[in-house]
Amino acid sequence: MNRTQNMATLLEKIQSKEARVVVVGIGYVGLPLVVELAHAGYRVTGYDRDPSKVKQLNASTSYIEDIKAEDFAEYVKSGKMDASTDESVIKEADCVILCVPTPLKKTKDPDMSYIEGAAQTVVRNQHKDMLVVLESTTYPGTTREYLVSELLQGGKYTLGKDVHVAFSPERVDPGNAKFGTRNTPKVVGGCTPACMAVAKALYSHIVNTVVDVSSPDAAEMSKLLENTFRAVNIGLVNEFALICERLGLDVWEVIGAAATKPFGFMPFWPGPGLGGHCIPIDPLYLSWKMRGLKMPARFIELADAVNTAMPEHVVEITARALNEKKKSMKGSKILISGVAYKRDISDFRESPAADVIEGLLKRGVEVSYMDSWVPVFKEGEHSFESLKPDTSYAGFDAVIIVTDHKNIDYVRMAKEADLIIDTRNAMRPYGEGAKATIVRL
Ligand SMILES: NC(=O)c1ccc[n+]([C@@H]2O[C@H](COP(=O)([O-])OP(=O)(O)OC[C@H]3O[C@@H](n4cnc5c(N)ncnc54)[C@H](O)[C@@H]3O)[C@@H](O)[C@H]2O)c1
Repeated sequence: MNRTQNMATLLEKIQSKEARVVVVGIGYVGLPLVVELAHAGYRVTGYDRDPSKVKQLNASTSYIEDIKAEDFAEYVKSGKMDASTDESVIKEADCVILCVPTPLKKTKDPDMSYIEGAAQTVVRNQHKDMLVVLESTTYPGTTREYLVSELLQGGKYTLGKDVHVAFSPERVDPGNAKFGTRNTPKVVGGCTPACMAVAKALYSHIVNTVVDVSSPDAAEMSKLLENTFRAVNIGLVNEFALICERLGLDVWEVIGAAATKPFGFMPFWPGPGLGGHCIPIDPLYLSWKMRGLKMPARFIELADAVNTAMPEHVVEITARALNEKKKSMKGSKILISGVAYKRDISDFRESPAADVIEGLLKRGVEVSYMDSWVPVFKEGEHSFESLKPDTSYAGFDAVIIVTDHKNIDYVRMAKEADLIIDTRNAMRPYGEGAKATIVRL
């Protein structure tokens, strides 16, 4: 029976798992979702413009470390799950979930081109009785003001009747072994009560807890609060790191001591700057929106200023430490240890390593890096290949720990290196008796 012959309502089809689902964008967010949908018993297709992801999914090969091929190979084999670069798969879909990127433009304004591209793809293949959910992080109002208005196609469709629209922010935390798609509560905001009922029916099959909010705007805003909370608190401890340095105090000790308070305090740790596709970017979607309303989002802007200055501060303390050793930066050889944006993952989008490297290159440093998670690292027009993990740390004037992967041999680093700039406090257990001079953030 094809889609048009099936007279069951959308809600019934979702409840009986007859509904066909298409996920648009099968990256870090979309792939785990496709797998959970198949796991829940839905027939699901990942639609992506990137043929390499489509090919890999169809070959039961995973390209995201948190998802193991064995987690989904049986679904591909049984025909429950596949991927396509052909947008007409949406014609057969009852539910479409958009998981496309939401980066910033060079001007730090939202780049909405991916959401717009994905929305237009749905519009071209739209039919009656569809649920469309946006999961990409974006400014409040996007779903209601933009997506709904596109999907109504000038009155061709009625909201909550023959098109259902909702926003449900993704909360995936790459590298988190404890919380994945299923056991992370999912906030859902429908555009009408009927939209909410349909969206909730789908998500309650794939996650343990669905959290209803009254509107898509509230759902959009809750995600921005989560990420702004992190960006602001990291900005605060980064500023504390600078203050402690000036006062001759160890910020790591100070935060560790404060964290012993069993209530009313949550530790955040300083570092070389923010990275990844979320924390450095998402809050700026909100500050952009508020600028348009002539109300500055001051905490966001201040945190952004503090956090984006951290890579340059790392370069600065490296220059000072070399100076102490009567060495200049120009012509020195510096190894970056870890370029992924956080520990034990391969994602290097927006990694502060890029800005640290750029700052070093500008000062005439010969830069190398080592990161077993990232074999090739591209920074502007430069492309670097990771050195072998057994390369001696002795051949460098300084080693800068940007990412504290667990598999790094810090004991050997302490023995071989001459100078270590430790932006993550990774050397704390290994500093005693080290040959290297260790300079912490
Ligand atoms: N990565 C995370 O940890 C994370 C966590 C929570 C939320 N998010 C949010 O989720 C969204 C997606 O992020 P991601 O990390 O999965 O991005 P990603 O780059 O890993 O994946 C996005 C995919 O969308 C595809 N794509 C782009 N435009 C398309 C189009 N018009 N049609 C079909 N495919 C298209 C790309 O080829 C890519 O494969 C973003 O808004 C992000 O802020 C990401």
